[in-house]
Amino acid sequence: MTQKPTPIGGRRNSAVLITGAGGEVGHGLIRALRERGREDIVALDIRKLDRGIRDLCMETFVGDICDHALTGRLLATFEITEIFHLAALLSTRAEFTPETAHDVNVGGTLSLLQLAAEQSRSHGNRVRFVLPSSIAAYGMPDLETKRRAGRVTEDEYLQPTTMYGCNKLYCEHLGRYYARHYRQLAQDRIDDILDFRCVRYPGLISADTVPSGGTSDFGPEMIHAAAQGEPYACFVRPDTRIPFMTMPDAIDALIALAHADESKLTRHVYNLGAFNPSAGEFAEIVTEAFPGAEITFEPDKQRQAIVDSWPEDVDDSAARRDWGYAPRHDLETAFSEYLVPRIRARYADA
Ligand code: SER
Repeated sequence: MTQKPTPIGGRRNSAVLITGAGGEVGHGLIRALRERGREDIVALDIRKLDRGIRDLCMETFVGDICDHALTGRLLATFEITEIFHLAALLSTRAEFTPETAHDVNVGGTLSLLQLAAEQSRSHGNRVRFVLPSSIAAYGMPDLETKRRAGRVTEDEYLQPTTMYGCNKLYCEHLGRYYARHYRQLAQDRIDDILDFRCVRYPGLISADTVPSGGTSDFGPEMIHAAAQGEPYACFVRPDTRIPFMTMPDAIDALIALAHADESKLTRHVYNLGAFNPSAGEFAEIVTEAFPGAEITFEPDKQRQAIVDSWPEDVDDSAARRDWGYAPRHDLETAFSEYLVPRIRARYADA
C-alpha cells in the first residue's frame, strides 16, 4: 500500500474504489484485482459483503451510493485513483420501481463522477472511472429490424425501452461529459479532468454466481437449474437471440480496458461480444451437458419484449482494434471448458 502526501499536508491511503462490490461482477473483479497484486481495494455495497470478499479488501463500507455523507467520507479518507462503478438496479428489477432505479443508476453515477472530479482536482492526477454499461442501452424497434441489423455498432439503435437501458445510456453520456466538458465555462476549469472508460456488456454467465433482477438471466438460470436437477421454465421463446459472454472474460475485459494505453482509445464506450446462441440452442447445449435437464419454454410477454428490443449481436471491432479485446471463450469453450465442469463441481460439493 502506498501513501502519498496530499496538497494540504495530510496523508491518505491511495485506493481503488469498487461500488456494487457484492454483485456478480464485483465478486469476480475483486478476486481478479487481488490476483494481480492490488492491495488497496475499498469496496462499497448496500449489503454487508461476504467474509470471503471482505478479506480481500483493504476496507469495506455498507451504504448507499446516493448517500452524499458516505461518499464525502470516502473522499476525505482515501486518495481514490480509480473507480469501478458497478452498483446498479438491473433491467427487470428496475421496471417495478423505475424512479428508485433512476435514483440509484443515475443519481449514484452522477454523485460518483463528481466525487471523482473532486479527487482529480485535489490530488492533481486524473481519476480513472470505469463503468459497465449494457446491451440494454439499445432499443431495436421490431424483430425484423433486429434480425436484419445483426451485429450493431456502438452508435446505432440507441432508443432503449427500459428504465435501466435509459439510465445506462445517459450515464455513458454523463461520463463523456465529465471527462471532456465538465464545467466548460468556469474560469478555473481543468481540461480532461477524468479518464472515463466504459464497456457495454452483453448478458453475462457465471459458473459461481446466479444473477438476480436482470432480463438476460434466462441463460444463466437455465444452466444452474439443470445442474441442480431442477426443472426450468424459460421466460423467452426458443428463437430469442442476444449476445452473451462468460464472467471471466467480462472481468478480464474490464481490467484490460482500465489499463489500456489511453492514446490508443478512440472512444469512451466499447461494445463487447463473444457468442450469441438462441435460447433454444442454449437449451440444447445445456441438455446435452446435463441429460436429465427439464427445460420448457413459457414466454412472459413483457420480459420477452425487453429481450426482443436488445440486438442479436454486437460489433466489437473497436474494442478488438483499440485495446486488444479477445475473449477466451466462444460458445463451445464457454460450456466445455468453463461452465459445465465448474458448475458441475459447484453443485457436487453443495
Ligand atoms: N444483464 C442485464 C440485464 O439483464 C443486461 O445487460 O438487465
